[in-house]
Amino acid sequence: MSIQKPKGTQDFLPGTVETWQYIEKTARDVCRRFHYKEIRTPIFEHTELFQRGVGETTDIVEKEMYTFLDKGKRSISLRPEGTAGVVRAYVENKLYAEPEVCKLYYTGPMFRYEQPQAGRYRQFHQFGVEAFGATDPAIDAEVIALGYTIYTELGIQGVRVEINSVGNPASRAAYRESLLAFLEPKRDVLCKDCQSRMERNPLRVLDCKVDQHHFAGAPELLEFLDEECSSHFAAVQSHLTGMGIPFSINPRLVRGLDYYTHTAFEYKAEGIGAIDTIGGGGRYNGLVGQIGGNDQPGIGFGIGLERTVLVLEAQGVAIPQEAELAAYLVGMGEAAEREVTKLLYQLRLAGIVAEKDYLGRKMKAQMKSADRFNAKYVAILGDDELAAGEISVKRMSTGEQTKVPLSEFTSWLTTH
Ligand code: HAM
Repeated sequence: MSIQKPKGTQDFLPGTVETWQYIEKTARDVCRRFHYKEIRTPIFEHTELFQRGVGETTDIVEKEMYTFLDKGKRSISLRPEGTAGVVRAYVENKLYAEPEVCKLYYTGPMFRYEQPQAGRYRQFHQFGVEAFGATDPAIDAEVIALGYTIYTELGIQGVRVEINSVGNPASRAAYRESLLAFLEPKRDVLCKDCQSRMERNPLRVLDCKVDQHHFAGAPELLEFLDEECSSHFAAVQSHLTGMGIPFSINPRLVRGLDYYTHTAFEYKAEGIGAIDTIGGGGRYNGLVGQIGGNDQPGIGFGIGLERTVLVLEAQGVAIPQEAELAAYLVGMGEAAEREVTKLLYQLRLAGIVAEKDYLGRKMKAQMKSADRFNAKYVAILGDDELAAGEISVKRMSTGEQTKVPLSEFTSWLTTH
């Protein structure tokens, strides 16, 4: 039996990969203009990093990590998300010692052992940014705007930005108590998931899809914010309004990772099924300290690239096409074929997309191949042409033929 890819993974074949390249290129370009620099961190880290960073009681760490002992008996995990590794690198490389706000972006695969469905995979990809060292609400707005701009520049319509404040640890503790008091009398009618979340992570209970009808009148986090948290949140909103970024406040928005403080946000899109969150992020003012650095504030987001691809497809966004084949070279006879190999390499060095046959096919089959590749020109070199120092060139769209001196072929192609 042939071997198949593991459940929850995908192959991205030519034809689809161009969409990925388009997303990455667009996102990188937006980051460049927002003055964020790329960072690359390992795909696996010590398990402890995610336990401390993402949080012991989160679904991710409790159930979804790919964790194993390596041959040196160290507990290693494939990264389930990007932030913890970037924070570790920020601390380990003392990037906090730089005099400026440290603005980073990254892209790559993440791994979570989840039940696969449309838009949910076990290996998935994120494009993310993290900005360290500033508590200014203007940077919250910058980060939110950056993610939004990536979607709009990709040509995606109708992305919704939802924001909330999850406060600081003190306001969250007060909220938690009040929420538990509200939930306690309903405990028995709630689903198993909610019951266990009440123990481990009560803030996530209100996220439950099945129990929503029990939550009318539940206390809201925003009512528990202290002065500092509320004014930060108000300032973020006024910056977003000033920048013209459309957003709405979702007081129920709590994220699935433990590190958030103050601003939390998600990007949502229609038309890709039940899972409509295409990206999310927030501020994490305690995380750097928790990972072992001097305490520096941070904020960032992760965009899910699989979900972005789904939205692009659902909205029928046209992906800019790669350059087509400019020339397909045909050599007739041994000497001419040797010359073609040389010529082909010269064209490629000169920036021209060119191809030849490697299957020993007859002229007619090679012409068909040129057609399939949508080649602009077919250039034929036979013994006669070789002797005359010329090459016959046929424009495929018109059938028009001409002879070009071999020595001028490269420059002729660049101008035709
Ligand atoms: P997250 O909300 O867990 O946040 O993931 C961010 C995005 O990754 C999601 O909105 C979704 O689009 C995508 N995603 C998550 N899990 C899967 C999956 N199994 N399959 C496909 N796509 C998925 C984070 O990871 C944080 N590190 C974001 C952040 C950065 N917060 C601050 N800085």
